[in-house]
Amino acid sequence: MTAIAPLREPDDLFDPRHYEAGAGRAARSLPRWCYTSRAFLEREIDAIFLRHWLFVGREDEVAKPGDYRVCDTSSGPVVMLRGRDEQLRVFGNTCRHRGSALLHGAGNCRAIVCPYHRWTYALDGSLAAAPHMDGVEGFEPADHALIPVRHEIWDGFVFVSFAAGGPDLATHLGGYPAKFASHRLAEMVTVGRDSYEVGCNWKLLLENALEDYHTAAVHGTSIGTQQAYPEEVAGACEILYVPGARAVGVLPKEETAFPHIPGLSEEAAERSYFTLVYPNTQFCFTQDCAWWLTVLPTGPDTCRLDLGYCFPRETVARPDFEANAAKYFARWRLVAEEDLGIVEIQQRGLASVVRRDGPLSWKEGTVASFDRWILDKVLQG
Ligand code: FES
Ligand SMILES: [Fe+2]
Repeated sequence: MTAIAPLREPDDLFDPRHYEAGAGRAARSLPRWCYTSRAFLEREIDAIFLRHWLFVGREDEVAKPGDYRVCDTSSGPVVMLRGRDEQLRVFGNTCRHRGSALLHGAGNCRAIVCPYHRWTYALDGSLAAAPHMDGVEGFEPADHALIPVRHEIWDGFVFVSFAAGGPDLATHLGGYPAKFASHRLAEMVTVGRDSYEVGCNWKLLLENALEDYHTAAVHGTSIGTQQAYPEEVAGACEILYVPGARAVGVLPKEETAFPHIPGLSEEAAERSYFTLVYPNTQFCFTQDCAWWLTVLPTGPDTCRLDLGYCFPRETVARPDFEANAAKYFARWRLVAEEDLGIVEIQQRGLASVVRRDGPLSWKEGTVASFDRWILDKVLQG
């Protein structure tokens, strides 16, 4: 038997020749180092996460003046904050004194008091008090307001961007919002969130979200085999739909508990959508609810998966909401745990130094699109 030589991360990691498909070759998975290399991840942070719109949370999660929610990004925490003037603002969650994180989790406050030396900021971000700074040469409170982070909102979904310029959110999303207009997402209420630390590269969870090929093996006893079809929409997104008038927010053995969203388009009434908004959030829309999965890289082979769940306002007001919503939460957690279980196993395999890239099935066209999008950005530097 011929021994297979170890395949190490090359020194010239971003030479496009490492990623070229050979003539007549079908799409292949990315080389293993894309899932294991710190240098590759650092380039992804620079070329992708610092340059594109990132989904951080829902506007309705900070509905009242003083409401705040801290949202982690791959470049540190930001805080969404509702001012006394009802304006939603987003700031870096970092004190202008010596940089402490200011807020934690979610809640309501009258002012933001730094836990370290008690610098205090008003809800509009201005510095209102800074003990023992009087007489410090050149110190002007007006120069030390919280640092705003660029944000834009699509139908209640808040996105931030750390890019100095670049396209607005509407340009990033392209035709995507129009596709889901009849789901009335702006009127939905966020009713829960979950978070998992996962032992895999961030891309594995999103690739997994973009194919139905694994569903028979991984979800055979829960949601079962799924048939998903890709749909082309202009914008930084991928869309797959599963045909059927039955909402997929509950397990097949459960009765669908809630009525359809009123006014769903004819097409939307017959489909559940599993979509990706680049770079890192899967949004799922079915006939009676919506949910999301955001993946944050935390290291080359670790990430965090954040899930959030939304229902129409009138559904949340129903007397049977809590009892029936439990079925949806159970389905979302079970399926997420099945997926993160398999991608952790995949990551262990990718650690093998003899691993070569492998051919993709015709059922993995969207995985190939995702990989190409990532590679394009990374190789442009
Ligand atoms: S770090 Fe915030 S007051 Fe000192
Ligand atoms: Fe899955």
